[in-house]
Amino acid sequence: MNRITLLGFLFLSLLWQSCDNAKASDTGDSVSNSTDETGYYQEDHRLQYHFSPKEGWINDPNGMVYYDGEYHLFYQYYPYATVWGPMHWHHTVSKDLVHWEHLPIALYPDELGMIFSGSAVVDKNNTAGFKTGEEDPLIAIYTYHDMVGEKLGRSDYQTQGIAYSNDKGRTWTKYAGNPVVKNPGFKDIRDPKVVWHEPSQQWVMVLSRGSVMQFYNSPDLKNWKLTSDFGEGQGNHGGVWECPDIFSLPIDGNENNRKWVLIVNMNPGGPNGGSGTQYFIGEFDGKTFKNDNAPTDLLYADFGKDNYAGVTWSDIPSEDGRRLFIGWLSNWQYARDVPTHPWRNAMTLPRELTLKTTPSGIRLFSTPVKELEKLRSQTNQIAAQSISNKEVSLLSSGIDASQSELELTFDMSKTDAKSFGIKLSNAKGEVVRFAYEQESGLFIFDRTQSGKIQFSNEFPGLQFIPRILDNNIMKLHIFIDRSSMEVFADDGHSIITNIFFPTEDYNQITLYADHGNAELVSGNIYALKGIWK
Ligand code: FRU
Repeated sequence: MNRITLLGFLFLSLLWQSCDNAKASDTGDSVSNSTDETGYYQEDHRLQYHFSPKEGWINDPNGMVYYDGEYHLFYQYYPYATVWGPMHWHHTVSKDLVHWEHLPIALYPDELGMIFSGSAVVDKNNTAGFKTGEEDPLIAIYTYHDMVGEKLGRSDYQTQGIAYSNDKGRTWTKYAGNPVVKNPGFKDIRDPKVVWHEPSQQWVMVLSRGSVMQFYNSPDLKNWKLTSDFGEGQGNHGGVWECPDIFSLPIDGNENNRKWVLIVNMNPGGPNGGSGTQYFIGEFDGKTFKNDNAPTDLLYADFGKDNYAGVTWSDIPSEDGRRLFIGWLSNWQYARDVPTHPWRNAMTLPRELTLKTTPSGIRLFSTPVKELEKLRSQTNQIAAQSISNKEVSLLSSGIDASQSELELTFDMSKTDAKSFGIKLSNAKGEVVRFAYEQESGLFIFDRTQSGKIQFSNEFPGLQFIPRILDNNIMKLHIFIDRSSMEVFADDGHSIITNIFFPTEDYNQITLYADHGNAELVSGNIYALKGIWK
């Protein structure tokens, strides 16, 4: 890089930062009030058992990798304000997927650009040659976004780089030969996900390019060869394809019968507007992905509005064998406007992904990781009952509605209510409603009366979610954490993840049935502990 370009980069960075800070102070978005002044993780709307940063802005989860007893989670981060700005990779680790320890920022922008999304792997065989000591090297593969190039109107401002750590992810060195994948002239080419492909003994990179995914191969993580594209005419193209992932899973738990899953995040074009996550199921030989389903079949990993850029952990030990996923708990439609301070945005609960056969074909199921059960501090049973044209409280002593978990099972053969479901509310009349409507066969998520909704026109609208399984037994597994609700319906078949912002915490949960009866056959409500104290 020559001196003029470097000066340009520094100037633009400063300009960007000062614009952001000016914007921040105009709108109350600066991060000058540290959490310590206001009480650790006690601010309005602060999630109590989800990961969120102490302060600053976050978006996509990045570089998720397991090594030596630690789940690493990096994430897109802007430290100087609660709005998006020049991206860093911030870092946190967990030993149990429940409690998170904040570590320092891992990757800072440099003269090649900001550090956009990507992945990380353990280079067990030292294929890249970066190993210096006893530990296996961790390699991060990420996108450089060159702001100067973008401002100058170039189209090749996104390239792919790598960095390595020989001390369990505590310190990172960027590879001197970056970028490892140059840009042939595409504006959107980013978010590399790298996996080791055992049958062909090589690394595979999936990279989003515009509205397709590209596959590359490499023996050493440094030299990459393009092998194929996937996506034209396939699935939903309502937005730019971003943040891919690829992995194989057994079907119905049968290790001898596996399929590949290609995760494609997409913005906009999500099933209920804004950002969303679709997936494809098929065959992959290390070079080419083939979709098993019709190109017009649209499959979504989540039907709520607030689960984006989700991908899975690399290098989970084979004794564990799970495919573990986490997403960004927000939506680009309004992520920069949500009323939180001094942080903005959080991650979803970690989930386990599986493939199961259903009447409509093989589908991706998603359930909360079992480790979350350790948060339960109290269990109260909810008595089996018929709820006919009324609303009943599900709360019992010791349970805080805004920090709870619910398991509800309904017998649909004895349920004829036009609409039934749960309401989460407070004394101010603010309410979030999650319901099932028999006639349409749709779940409804209604946050139109949920409290603070004025910050974006895109936020309040009704959401419609297909109930894909049509069993006589309907199971709802629901997590509520002050400003979020995650619904895992029918053992993880229909997933609905959403956020909301009551002016005071919700303190009531009720079950209601309209125009008929809802037959609750069993239920549990749990009080959940926070993770930050
Ligand atoms: C997805 C995304 C990625 C990009 C990152 C930038 O949310 O747009 O494609 O790498 O965010 O922060």
